[in-house]
Amino acid sequence: KRSSDYEGLKILVTAGPTREPIDPVRYISNHSSGKMGYAVAKAALDRGAAVKLVTGPVNITPPTGAETICVTSAVDMYNEVMKSYESFDILVMVAAVADYRCVTVSEKKIKKSGENLTLELVKNPDIAAELGKVKGHRIMIGFSAETDNLLDNAASKLASKNMDMVVANDVTLEGAGFGVDTNIVKLIKRDGSRIDLPVMSKEDVAHRILDEVLSIRNG
Ligand code: PMT
Repeated sequence: KRSSDYEGLKILVTAGPTREPIDPVRYISNHSSGKMGYAVAKAALDRGAAVKLVTGPVNITPPTGAETICVTSAVDMYNEVMKSYESFDILVMVAAVADYRCVTVSEKKIKKSGENLTLELVKNPDIAAELGKVKGHRIMIGFSAETDNLLDNAASKLASKNMDMVVANDVTLEGAGFGVDTNIVKLIKRDGSRIDLPVMSKEDVAHRILDEVLSIRNG
C-alpha cells in the first residue's frame, strides 16, 4: 500500500555520529551506529523518494540508490546540509551530532604528562535548529535521544528547533537507541498529539515516521 507514496518527493537524512578531533589520533564521539538513519533513508527509497544521506562515520553499507555523502565532524555535516537543504521537501535529522568540539586541535599527538588533562570545548552549530529557522514550507523531523525526562526534553526540542515532529527516543531502554536493530519511540507532533510505539525494528519505525510525515504534509 505504501509502495510509491513518496514518488516525486526529495528527502534529506542525517545519520550516524560525528567525530570531533582532539589530536591526529584521537576524537570525541558517541555510540551511534547509523542504523536508525540508514533505515529512514532505505524506507524512503523503497517508497519512491529521492534520498540524500549525509552520514557520519559508521560501519554499515548505505542503501542502494541514495546519494550518500560521508562527513566526519559536526561542522562538516552542518556545511553539507546547509548547502543542499533548499532543494528538499523533507528533512529528517537522525544523526547524533556532537554538541561540542575542541577549541584547538593539537597538530601533534598529545603526550602523556601530568595526572590531569583538561580539554576546552566550544559549542558546535546545531543543524536542526538552524534548519528550523530557514526551512519555510519544508517538513523537518528531529529525534531526541534522552536518558531522563523524555517527554519534556523532546517537547522542548520540538519547539526550540521548530520541528514538525520529534521522535522521542529513551536510549536507556533495552531494545532501544544506539547500536541495536530495534527501537522504542514516541512520535510527538506540533499540535501536542502523541503516538507511543512498541518495540519495533528500525525499518518499521522508519516507515511509521514516514507515514506521519505524509499525514503532516497532507494536513
Ligand atoms: O545510529 P543508531 O545506533 O541506530 O542509534 C539511533 C539514535 C539513538 C542515534 C537515534 O535514534 C537518535 O535518537 N538520534 C538523535 C541523537 C541525538 O543526538 O539527539 P539530540 O537529542 O542530541 O538532538 C536533537 C536533534 O537535534 C536531533 O534530531 C539531532 O540530529 C539534532 N542535532 C543535534 C545537535 C546538533 N549540533 N545538530 C543537530 O542537528
